[in-house]
Amino acid sequence: MISSLSSASAKIILFGEHAVVYGQPAIAIPLMDIRASATISVQNGLGFPVIEAKDIDTTVRYEKGNKDCAARHFFNAIELFENMVTPVPSSGWRLTVTSKIPFSRGLGSSAAISIAILRALAASQKMELSSQMLVDLSFELEKLHHGTPSGIDNTVISLEKPISFRKEHPPEIIKPSEFFFVVGDTGIGKNTADVVGFVASNYKKNSARFNGIFEEIGRISLEGKALLEKGDLKNLGQLMNKNQLLLKELNVSSLELDQLISAAKNAGSIGAKLCGAGKGGCMVALAGSKQQAEIIAKRLMDSGAVTTFVTRLK
Ligand code: PMV
Repeated sequence: MISSLSSASAKIILFGEHAVVYGQPAIAIPLMDIRASATISVQNGLGFPVIEAKDIDTTVRYEKGNKDCAARHFFNAIELFENMVTPVPSSGWRLTVTSKIPFSRGLGSSAAISIAILRALAASQKMELSSQMLVDLSFELEKLHHGTPSGIDNTVISLEKPISFRKEHPPEIIKPSEFFFVVGDTGIGKNTADVVGFVASNYKKNSARFNGIFEEIGRISLEGKALLEKGDLKNLGQLMNKNQLLLKELNVSSLELDQLISAAKNAGSIGAKLCGAGKGGCMVALAGSKQQAEIIAKRLMDSGAVTTFVTRLK
C-alpha cells in the first residue's frame, strides 16, 4: 500500500432537479475548484486502520460492520470497495478526509467524499477505477445515505464533465460554450431525502398536476442543453427563471433562496434558480462575464449569502 491523495469535485444542477427523480432529463455541471480530498498514508506501526474526518473532528479506528459511528459514511465506502474491488490491508494505514464543499447545501458533498475515498483506496492499491465502476460504486453509497437518489450527483462528480442525465440511461456529456455562474449559499442546511419525500407526498395527492410540472421541467432541461451548447446567454437565463417558477410550484424554494435570487437579478443576472433539493442550500445565477459574476457574488454576500462561488463553464 502506498500513500495517495485523491479528490473529487462539487457539482450544481442547472436544470431538472426533482423532475429527474421521476424519470425526466436534468443538466448538471461539476464545480472543479471546490473539492473533497482523501489521503491514504502508510503508517507501519499502526495495528489497525484509522479514519480521520477532519471537518467533523472525528478520528476513529476502522472496524468492519460498525454502522454506529460518526464516520460510517467512510466505513461504508471502504467496505464496498473491499466487497466489489479488492481487499485492503487490515492494519498500517490511515485515511484522512477533508472537504471544501459545504455539507447539505445541494453541492454534492456526500457523493464527492465517497468518490474521493474510492479513488484514494484504488490508488493505494495501484489501481484506477473506470468511470463506470466509479459511477456504480458511488451510486450504491448514495443509496445508503439518501434513500432513493436519481444518481445525477454521483454521475456528474464521477465524470467531472457537464452532463445531461436521465435515470437508468447512460449520461450524455455536454460540450458547452463559455458561461459564468455564481453560486450563493443560504447557509441553511437541508436533508435531500426529506425534501424528496415532501415532493413525493404531494405527488401522491395530485399526481396529474405534478406529472405536468415534471414534464415541463424535462422539456426545459432539453432546451437548456441546446442553449448551453449554442452559447445563447439570454435564452439560457430566461430558461433558468422558468425552471425556478416550476420549482416554486413544487414548493421547494424558500424565503432565503428567493431573496438571493432577487438580489442576483438586481445585480444584473438574467437568470437564477435554486440548485439541488431546495428548502435551503444554494442558488445559482447566470452572469454575462467574469466581472459581472464578481458583482453578483458581492451583492449575494451583502444580501445574506454565507459563501459564494464563481465558476466558469467551458
Ligand atoms: O442532494 P441535492 O440537493 O444535490 O439534490 C439532488 C437533486 C434531487 O433531484 C432533488 C434528488 C435526486 O436524487 O436527483
